[in-house]
Amino acid sequence: MSLKSQLNESNIPRHVAIIMDGNGRWAKKQGNDRSFGHEQGVESVRAALEASVEIGLEFITLYAFSTENWNRPKEEVQALMQLLVQAIAMETPTLLKQNIRLTTIGDVASLPEETRDKLQECIDVTSQNDGLTLVLALSYSGRWEIVDATKKIAEQVKEGKLQIEDIDEDLFGTSLNTSNIPDPELLIRTSGEYRLSNFLLWQLAYSEFYFSEVLWPDFRKQDLVDALKDYQSRERRFGKISEQINK
Ligand code: IPE
Ligand code: IPE
Ligand code: MG
Repeated sequence: MSLKSQLNESNIPRHVAIIMDGNGRWAKKQGNDRSFGHEQGVESVRAALEASVEIGLEFITLYAFSTENWNRPKEEVQALMQLLVQAIAMETPTLLKQNIRLTTIGDVASLPEETRDKLQECIDVTSQNDGLTLVLALSYSGRWEIVDATKKIAEQVKEGKLQIEDIDEDLFGTSLNTSNIPDPELLIRTSGEYRLSNFLLWQLAYSEFYFSEVLWPDFRKQDLVDALKDYQSRERRFGKISEQINK
């Protein structure tokens, strides 16, 4: 059965965000280094992207490295940065073939130069693609992003380009890293953890949450479909009552 035929085609979200968690535990369970889990996680990213293209999502945001992840042991941080460089180099041809455009959110300037350069290369060569947009959250945290947006707005007020009265939710939204990206309708977190870990705090205000016990390196296309099926069984009320939604 195709992935799409399992879903209601009139209710496919535009944007799914994923907290890819459980790489370390997956590796440890089999007596391997945590880094092995991160390496295997790349296969799951591949599966999630392929499924997203087949299903017809417009945006997928993957939490790949949080602001707080800088506090991990130096060797693990280095291995993750190295893996990122390798994975981008390896996957760029696939992104091109699948019409996927890469973009990033987060404090990219804080990444090592080699990582930044590889990312920029991939962003440049995929910039004309108009299928799925892959948003990689790197050195990202929701609080960092909100503070960053506030500084940009304050600067404009200081320079007299903006009046305080003009600050509203729309303006604030466009000052975030995710301006031009719709809010995710669905957030998925793997590995049985039930928290946001500082991810997309503003954008997830009205998203549906789906928690899976699957460790990220085991995540496959059907797991994404299962999350979407669950999403499609929900009623999104946005503060209204059921009768208003179904009239
Ligand atoms: C997610 O897996 C990947 C990153 C945070 C970079 P973890 O590395 O957090 O794996 P666990 O949660 O320790 O198992
Ligand atoms: C969140 O996972 C960050 C990413 C998946 C990149 P963590 O594993 O770092 O989150 P905590 O520390 O368990 O909350
Ligand atoms: Mg974790």
